Amino acid sequence: MQLLSSFLKHRKTDEQLVELIDTLMVACKEIALQLREGALAGVLGTSENTNVQGETQKKLDIIANDVLKKVLLDNRLVAGLASEEEDDPVAGNPEGRFLVTFDPLDGSSNIDINVSVGTIFSILELPAGEHPAHHSAYLQNGRRQLASGYVLYGPSAVLALTTGQGVNFFTLAHTGDFILTQENVQVPVETKEFAINMSNQRFWEPAMRSYIGDLLQGSDGPRGKNYNMRWIASMVAEVHRVLTRGGIFSYPWDGREPQKPGKLRLMYEGNPMSLLIEQAGGLASTCYQPILDVEPTEIHQRVSVALGSRNEVDAMLQYHTPEN
Ligand code: AHG
Ligand code: MN
Ligand code: MN
Ligand code: MN
Repeated sequence: MQLLSSFLKHRKTDEQLVELIDTLMVACKEIALQLREGALAGVLGTSENTNVQGETQKKLDIIANDVLKKVLLDNRLVAGLASEEEDDPVAGNPEGRFLVTFDPLDGSSNIDINVSVGTIFSILELPAGEHPAHHSAYLQNGRRQLASGYVLYGPSAVLALTTGQGVNFFTLAHTGDFILTQENVQVPVETKEFAINMSNQRFWEPAMRSYIGDLLQGSDGPRGKNYNMRWIASMVAEVHRVLTRGGIFSYPWDGREPQKPGKLRLMYEGNPMSLLIEQAGGLASTCYQPILDVEPTEIHQRVSVALGSRNEVDAMLQYHTPEN
């Protein structure tokens, strides 16, 4: 039985990084407890606030954000943080070394119906000469992440983590420890499963419409396979499925709001999930370039996402070449 911190130390992970990941898990355990109590703790339902993304916040979006903020700002290693639920970055210890960006509660439309949600995080280093209260400190491309991961609050709570040496799963035990349950996770190269919100089809680019159209034709169509479809509406749960049994997950750019390239956020969803997927042998693309190569210009910026099994994402990319 291997505990999270001993597993990381054994792999010679930077000790301060291990400490920070342990701290993050203190917060995630607290969030898991609040979620478990649900209606008993009066935490379900909607607040009266709107976040910087223009979304109405659920009570649990705010609770999870507050828990993460408090726990992280108590850690001397944390120079600052940026969150989906905060307008601006929050500075921590001026001597701190790390920046943490996070989606405190992903899939929050699922809270009130008792369906899986998650927390997504990304760890960056504070660049020399940058101030952790300034947006510019966080505008680093995804390849500069020191670590990323999520905790899926499902039937069990599972941490998927990468520190740049592959992906591993840890399950939260009743003792409060995260215990290694799957080592060196690999996304299967082939798949017959896709996940996309089909109700947005009329807004997609022609390339995406034609790719999904071909999947829907099944074994009679050009792809020659019968595909299955899933849509949980929690990115954490979708990515967990993709890491576990393969698949392609996409929330692509669509034409509704041309100034917004997709719904998902680069710093809190796109980058951390793309590092996990690449580290597990899969691909993560905007449909035109690897997500990890996108140079961020705003901390809350959106990004088009298509990620998962290597051969399926490759096939999807063929539809997006200039001649199509
Ligand atoms: P969040 O709850 O953090 O705002 O993110 C929700 C995201 C993502 O988890 C999911 O894939 C997608 O929104 C679902 O969107 P639709 O409701 O449009 O299907
Ligand atoms: Mn949200
Ligand atoms: Mn989210
Ligand atoms: Mn969220």
